[in-house]
Amino acid sequence: MKKNEEWSLTVERFADQGKVLAKVNGYVIFFKGAAPGDVVRVRTTKVKKNYAEAILLEILSPSPLRVSPVCSYFGTCGGCKWQHVAYEHQLTAKRESVADALAYTGGFQDIAVQPTIGMENPTFYRNKMEFSFSTQRWFTDAEIAEGQVIDRNFALGLHAPGRFDKVLDLEMCYLQSELSARIVNGIRQFAKQEQWLAWDTRKQNGFLRHVVIRQAWHTQDLMVNLVTYGYLPERMYLLATFFQDQFPEITTFVNTCNTGLAQTAYGESQHIIYGSGKIYDKIGDLTFEIAPTAFFQTNTSQAEKLYAVTRAFAELQRTDLIYDLYCGAGTISLFCAPHVQHVVGVELVEEAVANARVNAQLNNIHNTTFISGDMMRLFTPEFVRKHGKPDVLVVDPPRAGMHPKVVAQIAQLQPERWVYVSCNPMSQARELKELADLYAIEAVQPVDMFPHTHHTESVIKLRLRA
Ligand SMILES: C[S@@+](CC[C@H](N)C(=O)[O-])C[C@H]1O[C@@H](n2cnc3c(N)ncnc32)[C@H](O)[C@@H]1O
Repeated sequence: MKKNEEWSLTVERFADQGKVLAKVNGYVIFFKGAAPGDVVRVRTTKVKKNYAEAILLEILSPSPLRVSPVCSYFGTCGGCKWQHVAYEHQLTAKRESVADALAYTGGFQDIAVQPTIGMENPTFYRNKMEFSFSTQRWFTDAEIAEGQVIDRNFALGLHAPGRFDKVLDLEMCYLQSELSARIVNGIRQFAKQEQWLAWDTRKQNGFLRHVVIRQAWHTQDLMVNLVTYGYLPERMYLLATFFQDQFPEITTFVNTCNTGLAQTAYGESQHIIYGSGKIYDKIGDLTFEIAPTAFFQTNTSQAEKLYAVTRAFAELQRTDLIYDLYCGAGTISLFCAPHVQHVVGVELVEEAVANARVNAQLNNIHNTTFISGDMMRLFTPEFVRKHGKPDVLVVDPPRAGMHPKVVAQIAQLQPERWVYVSCNPMSQARELKELADLYAIEAVQPVDMFPHTHHTESVIKLRLRA
């Protein structure tokens, strides 16, 4: 096979990062934009020894697994790249990705992977969305075809895939709620009418940078956090009047000021314009306080299922000491704490640890200890001497997985029960391979935290071999 060759192929399956995979005489070709079962024409762009990459030129015959994407921005917006595939098949593909990682990366044969736990209604599932302002509006094909004269210098929505500067002006989004989309449209209209400028990432000037909407799943709380360059109180009070008039559903309005160059929703100061500056949501019986920058799982209803699986896999006993490593804001710790003697949570980000402590207090939970620090440095024999040897280990590391020193320390520590929660089945399988002589895999449960994306959460129950 050579570069720039055209091939007609049948797509076999989804591959890593939401790409698809097809084969020519056993040789693998990866490309984007198709669905398993599609017959396509592609052109190779990169040819390596074991695989090639290609671009999709044409769909010759669409797959029976295809469905019409619900969102009109599909294909232009990078948010929900799997909307063209039936949700049932998305769940199957996620289960396969976990099974493949265990078989091919982990070298584990004959491991039963349970069907992915999905959502009954896989739309409007996020409790937090961050929208960006831009002076460079990205147009959809339909907008270009319509050829209307549109304001190019102001957009509020989501970034076009791979573009830090261009933003798609979203009028509807199926990720958060219909109300959230209306609020975004209201802010856009108001800001344009008041002639407030959007932030220009190239010139580094302007006023409006981001809107973060946090909407509780189990309560009526809704926070709008407007991120601006500098604090202009009279403007904020004007916008507050507009919100109170048009969107009484907004329970609190916060203005974060970011005069830094980094285009983030964090800033050097925060002003509560009205309300308490926080929202409250529930996971199971627990209540969580969520401040503008607090850590919280973005899919509340699936987080409940994920934590229930994690807790069941841990087979908790009243006398147990649990280590919850990479604990974020301590949600798993707090979910398990009422059933055990003590939980020790470790997390890098101090603010998340502060959230964990607040939430422990809020729920009257007094048998948790949260420690902030880097697992690689903190997780030592001294740490274990100080806090005690755990009966159960729960780990939920970031995508890259655990540092080799942490894996080595687990091999030393050898807790009897271990639950490994991961958002990257490949790094999970790689690490479990290293400990395969010590730990047996007893159950594997994928959970879909992000419908219509390739992201897969995998929960694995492990037990120390006799
Ligand atoms: C997947 S999240 C865990 C989320 C948490 N279990 C929950 O359900 O909300 C991974 C966490 O690991 C933390 N983290 C990343 N690197 C770390 C390190 N080297 N040491 C400790 N924590 C780390 C991140 O800040 C993040 O909160």
